[in-house]
Amino acid sequence: MAVERTLSIVKPDAVAKNVVGKIYSRFEEAGLQIVAAKMLRLSDDVAGGFYAEHRERPFFADLVGFMTSGPVVVQVLEGENAIAKNRELMGATNPQEAEAGTIRADFAQSIDANAVHGSDSPASAEREIAYFFAASEICERG
Ligand code: PPS
Repeated sequence: MAVERTLSIVKPDAVAKNVVGKIYSRFEEAGLQIVAAKMLRLSDDVAGGFYAEHRERPFFADLVGFMTSGPVVVQVLEGENAIAKNRELMGATNPQEAEAGTIRADFAQSIDANAVHGSDSPASAEREIAYFFAASEICERG
């Protein structure tokens, strides 16, 4: 299996609930390494650019409003099959449909306040990692 990198965001609802460490434990226990991380407050422009592919969707304004409502923690996760593994750990977008034991089932409230984001493909991962991190901010951990 290939070693991949994926972009993960702990969203404002999970930061406000003080469960960043619990979510990081899920990544680490699944064998994913955190190779870059930062906490930041997204502006409308940064959040809108990140979710540009959803610009025409009816929920776009709510999504941007939510993602700018408080600090987020953004990280790059690395490991075998990291993109799919992270999506599995996250659970379904709607926490009501997320499998028991997933991050969203345990920590999310609703389809917008859904605790975490994870890249959904190698192409998205590449774009999303570059959106938040310069190559020099990503550490080789070996
Ligand atoms: S799709 O069609 O599969 O690309 O869409 P999906 O992955 O379900 O959702 C994309 C992101 O939009 C958020 N979302 C919403 N936000 C606010 N309100 C509503 N109704 C809503 N529906 C979807 C969802 O949380 C996804 O965010 P990310 O950060 O990508 O997980």
